[in-house]
Parts: sequence; structure tokens; C-alpha cells
Amino acid sequence: MKTYAEYLAMVEGSLSQQLASLGTIPEVLFKAMDYSLSAGGKRLRPVLLLAACDMAGGDVNEALPYACALEMIHTYSLIHDDLPAMDNDDLRRGRPTNHKVFGEDVAILAGDGLLSAAMELMLRSAIGMADLRGARAAQAIARRAGVTGMVAGQTVDVTGEGSEPTMEKVAYIHQHKTADLLTAPIEAGFLLAGADDQQLAAGAAYGQQLGLAFQMVDDLLDIEGDAATLGKTPGKDAAEGKLTWVAVRGIENTRADAQRAVDEAVAALDQLPFDTNFFKTLAQNTLNRVQ
Ligand code: IPE
Ligand code: IPE
Ligand code: MG
Ligand code: MG
Ligand code: MG
Repeated sequence: MKTYAEYLAMVEGSLSQQLASLGTIPEVLFKAMDYSLSAGGKRLRPVLLLAACDMAGGDVNEALPYACALEMIHTYSLIHDDLPAMDNDDLRRGRPTNHKVFGEDVAILAGDGLLSAAMELMLRSAIGMADLRGARAAQAIARRAGVTGMVAGQTVDVTGEGSEPTMEKVAYIHQHKTADLLTAPIEAGFLLAGADDQQLAAGAAYGQQLGLAFQMVDDLLDIEGDAATLGKTPGKDAAEGKLTWVAVRGIENTRADAQRAVDEAVAALDQLPFDTNFFKTLAQNTLNRVQ
């Protein structure tokens, strides 16, 4: 297995190139997509995908288009999440949000463009394979990103603003808007490596718990973080009446719940016949992240 920095370098080296490989894109659309895509970010989802494939004995180069596609889907979700009609944010990845630079019309289209580019890249790769591993990986990503996954979570997030925060609603939101997009890379990486159903289930359990902890920490950072480190404006959740984990459980319980979710994520790894250290360390680091 490689280090986080090595997987990250593979992703950084390939993202813009993958986009350009689709053909001639109207200049303003390419610029708007590339603006958000090249702004950095942790690249957690594509790194997880490459690492999961690698750990399960697959070929990381074969997994690269799927990793880049997933980062494109995540980036689209951020562009749309920041729109005035959704969270109305001005700062993302340390830069003015997409709609602040390109206008709402082009920002919406940049999100649409990243989502469809992702599907095209995955399908192009899948069609080139002699078996169904790529198609299955693409399906897992489409499903986790879609109407029973991230889009479902985002829907309950935006329509629930200002309503009574309940554990039921917040658990649904966190599971779908965030944990599903962190489960997708484990499933896709495993599917590309030809892992069996039992391994897939353990990997998915890890992704779900990691994702829940990740969003709990995101809710804490919205209260405790600063804009310069976060690269986004803190304090927005309370201002918008968001249904956060903290709104239901308070700060201290949220910290404890995040620790418990990480413990469960790590426990799920014990069911896997692989060297899971990379994933253990990554889960534990989630609790201390500052951005
Ligand atoms: C932000 O995701 C949206 C959430 C699900 C909390 P990240 O914290 O992974 O953002 P980037 O990709 O590093 O910018
Ligand atoms: C965003 O949740 C989840 C997705 C974009 C799918 P948030 O709205 O809490 O993310 P940030 O805090 O704006 O990054
Ligand atoms: Mg949001
Ligand atoms: Mg937001
Ligand atoms: Mg947030």
C-alpha cells in the first residue's frame, strides 16, 4: 500500500486531465468546473477509493478514473450546496464560492457538468473491461450519490431547516448526505478488486461509521473552527437553523458519539482479511481534523 500523500498525488495528477479527455467543453464551463476541482480539498473520497482497491489486491491505475469521478461528484455537491438557494456560502476551499465567481447560472451548470462527466468517465472505463467489475463500481457510486443517497440526505437537510431537531432526522441526514459518499469509495474500490460480499459488507460498515463521525466533526468545526483553517465560513449552521448532530446532542455528546462511531468503524475492519492499518489511522485522524 502507498501513503495518503502518494494516493493524493495520483488524484491531483489526473483530475484535470480526465476532464479534458472528454473533448471540447465550452470555455466558461470548463473554467468553472476546473476552478472548484483544482481548488484542492482533502481528496478524502478518491484517496479512500484507491486505498480500498489497493488493500483488496486490485490495480490502482485501473481505479483512478473512478476515484476522479467520485471527486467530481463530491465537488459538484459542494458547488450546489453553496448556492444561495441552498446553504448560501461565500467561501469554499479557501476561495470565493463558484457562483460568486461565475454566477449562479454557470455554477449550476458546472455542478451538472461535473456529475455527468463523472458518469461518462466511469462508463467509458467500465465498457473497456472484459468483466463487470467497473460497471458494478459505477453502480455503487451512482447509487450512493443519488436519490437514495447523497441527494436524499441533502433534500432532508435543506427542507428541514428551522424545524425541530430530532435524532431520527439528523441521523438520516448525516448517513445520506455524507456517510454515503464516504461508503461509495470503499464499495467501488473493493468491487474493482473483486472482493466478496462479506468483505463488501464490512467495508461498507466502515464507510458508514467513518462518514457519520466525519459529519459530526464537520458540525463541531462549524462551531469551533476558524475560516482561515477551514477554508469555509464557520457559524453558518446555527444561523440557518440547520439540523446538526450538535443541535440534538450538544457539543460534548457529539464528541463522544464521534469517538464511538470511529471505534465501530475500526471494529468493522477486523472482519477483513487485509492489512487495515491505513484505514484505522485514517479513521482515528478524523476526530482531530481541523479542516
Ligand atoms: C465537505 O467535505 C462536505 C462534507 C460532507 C462535510 P470535505 O470536508 O471532504 O471537503 P473537501 O473536499 O476537503 O473540501
Ligand atoms: C454538505 O454538508 C454535504 C454535501 C455537500 C453533500 P454541509 O453543508 O454541512 O457541508 P459544508 O459544511 O458546507 O462543507
Ligand atoms: Mg449543506
Ligand atoms: Mg454547506
Ligand atoms: Mg457543514
